Amino acid sequence: MGGNAVSKFEENLATYVGANHVLSLASGMDALIIGLTALNLPPMSNVLVADNAGGYASLAVLSTGHRPIFCDVNPSDFEMDLDFATDFSDEIQAVVVTHLYGRMADMNSIMAWAKKNDIKVIEDCAQSIGAIQDQKQAGTFGDIGTFSFYPTKNLGGVGDGGAICTDNDLYAERINKLRQYGWKHRYNISEKFARNSRLDSINAAVLDEKLKTLNQSNMRRREILTQYISSFSSGIFFQDRSVALDNVAHLAVGVCENPTEMINFFGAEGVELTRHYPIPDSLQEGLNYLGVDKATPTSHRLCKQVVSLPIYPWLTDEQVNLVCIVAQKWSGSNA
Ligand SMILES: Cc1ncc(COP(=O)(O)O)c(C=O)c1O
Repeated sequence: MGGNAVSKFEENLATYVGANHVLSLASGMDALIIGLTALNLPPMSNVLVADNAGGYASLAVLSTGHRPIFCDVNPSDFEMDLDFATDFSDEIQAVVVTHLYGRMADMNSIMAWAKKNDIKVIEDCAQSIGAIQDQKQAGTFGDIGTFSFYPTKNLGGVGDGGAICTDNDLYAERINKLRQYGWKHRYNISEKFARNSRLDSINAAVLDEKLKTLNQSNMRRREILTQYISSFSSGIFFQDRSVALDNVAHLAVGVCENPTEMINFFGAEGVELTRHYPIPDSLQEGLNYLGVDKATPTSHRLCKQVVSLPIYPWLTDEQVNLVCIVAQKWSGSNA
């Protein structure tokens, strides 16, 4: 645990994302929970989360004694709807922005709104490591950026792992304590709500090696997503028609009128599709005791209609071609 491999990976990741501090942790959920704790918000603060982003942010907000407010999303890019968010500007203390499917939300607009209203910003980059907007990496716009190194992530390890990046020295100092029992010095607890959360050395060494080829594997993901998108002429709608540097194509998700039909159609041709995410946070059985502050109809519709195509950098050209051929057939039968 700890040691050179971990600190070397932290340094290299800090250089890669262009942040003053990177602190490694045991998972992406820990990064969200410890990140929210480090903000030191008043108890029961309202934290805005996207309603369609898989529930990770909502769970972290609840674990830290705060209250998630479910935000509706844009029908065009499936990211937080800033007009909706604006209705809550006076009531919220923080926002978790999830760069969903690997594509960054519009951070300049979000940061302008957040600064104006004194709202803290956490960027959940579990799906978006390496994405760039206006020459800045995902995770470096807000107060804190969080990452997951779960094996299927764009930078995937050999087990669970996560990290936080921040330019803020005070947050970094707090996070450093929060991840190790709240210790100021050994056995001397100075931080409340602390825990232990560590990235192990073998995982860190593997991640450090894989970081060297992250840009290449992100490029391959972009290439695959671009091929998929251009193979569909109808029968599905994507966040973008062209895949730019702000999208590291963690997932290849579109929306279609009848996802079950599409899943069966592709399945019959030997291509397995999945869905991210079929249930909005506001309709989750374990969360609906919270009630909703305002209806989120776009999120509800998108969650009913999402379909995910297979995407990994190691897919062969033949596999990608097969998906593209089935995509053309699907479009043909949905013209
Ligand atoms: C957007 C998002 N946030 C947070 C997490 C949680 O990360 P981890 O599984 O490493 O705890 C995930 C993992 O799937 C995720 O996709």
